[in-house]
Amino acid sequence: MRILVIGGGGREHALVWKLAQSPKVDKIYVCPGNPGMKNLAECVALPLTDLEAVADFAEKESIALTVVGPEATLVAGIVDVFNKRGLTIFGPTAAAAEIEGSKAFSKQLMAKYGIPTAFFKICEDIETAKAYIMEKGAPIVVKADGLAAGKGVVVAMTEAEALAAVDDMMGDLKFGGAGARVVLEEYMEGEEASLLAFTDGETIVPMVAAQDHKRVYDADEGPNTGGMGAYAPAPVMTDRLKEKCVELVLKPTIAAMKAEGRKYQGCLYAGLMIKGEDIKVVEFNARFGDPETQVVLPLLASDLVEVMLACAQGRLHEVKVEWSDSAAVCVVMASGGYPGSYEQGLPITGLAEANSLSDTIVFHAGTKEIGDTIVTAGGRVLGVTATGSDIRAAKDKAYAAVKLIDFKDAHYRHDIAWRALKDK
Ligand code: AMP
Ligand code: GLY
Repeated sequence: MRILVIGGGGREHALVWKLAQSPKVDKIYVCPGNPGMKNLAECVALPLTDLEAVADFAEKESIALTVVGPEATLVAGIVDVFNKRGLTIFGPTAAAAEIEGSKAFSKQLMAKYGIPTAFFKICEDIETAKAYIMEKGAPIVVKADGLAAGKGVVVAMTEAEALAAVDDMMGDLKFGGAGARVVLEEYMEGEEASLLAFTDGETIVPMVAAQDHKRVYDADEGPNTGGMGAYAPAPVMTDRLKEKCVELVLKPTIAAMKAEGRKYQGCLYAGLMIKGEDIKVVEFNARFGDPETQVVLPLLASDLVEVMLACAQGRLHEVKVEWSDSAAVCVVMASGGYPGSYEQGLPITGLAEANSLSDTIVFHAGTKEIGDTIVTAGGRVLGVTATGSDIRAAKDKAYAAVKLIDFKDAHYRHDIAWRALKDK
């Protein structure tokens, strides 16, 4: 069987790596892909702004399953285009992907169906937003409604910060049209966890819970990033809490989407805030998380192709999805300066040595090949991932691999998984 994966980051490298393990697979294409995937898949350049052309390619190459990584392509409607042509694709339609594409939509959905989340107000103009901030005071969270590459959220600890965020988003349109409408949200305290689930629109299969590390520096200091590392399973998500998340969040959300005529198929990502026994939804994403995917998929014991086909074909209830009981840790190696500006094109050494360590895989996120040399080509460059019998063992192996890799100004957090290990 031939497979097409859309995307080119660490998440997609992990998807390609896992899909390639299936005995069903003859060939994987990835668009645009990256050099880390080269021995697993053929990288192709398709115009992702022309979804009919992508579907033409899938038809011509007899692609049996297409898997979409990035939210923008889902929100743009790739699944609708493929469905219309009878092509099998894993992911939600544009209408269903709005659960990530519009924070206003997802908050209203949660309010309507009683799914636990922070109090909020949707603001269409600056005056309303500012008046609400003055009324509620700080801390308060300001969120651009639309897609902003993970940067459209300001957790404001003071009113002045919140007012400035509103000016940036609604006045200066810092995130373009995505910020023309904002959602103001009650500040939630607690520990975050990411619970991803496979779904065909009816059946829901939660994955192993993971925890991301959004801040750039050790001890969760510095600005937010796309994610500096992750680990799974996250002990904060006990079996009991996970069951609670399934009953109070995942099941009602999938049922709500169906009731709204937006049946949701693919991977649903619930970002959760946990405080004691209390869970609240921080956000939904319409796709796999990055870097969560790099730690969740290595723990999947089942055939990912089989699971994804079952989701796309509405028969997930037929498949038994199994997980290994080991743990995984991913340490992101980033460019110096990230999440601000950074240099690119810096040669990376030690990749082969790191990859040759047992239970270790270096997922590429922002890399490029120049001649025979792999060089940096993004903020997050590599996701150095290892599995082990427990988090401690996986962490030690991941950092042993990190130490073998080098590029100028490389920086990474030294404390990935600290919450899981703090009492040990
Ligand atoms: P989001 O894109 O909605 O996931 O927000 C990005 C990050 O901002 C989250 O992962 C949280 O760390 C933080 N955040 C978002 N909403 C809230 C909230 N209501 N209270 C506290 N922190 C939040
Ligand atoms: N790791 C956060 C995200 O994928 O949105």
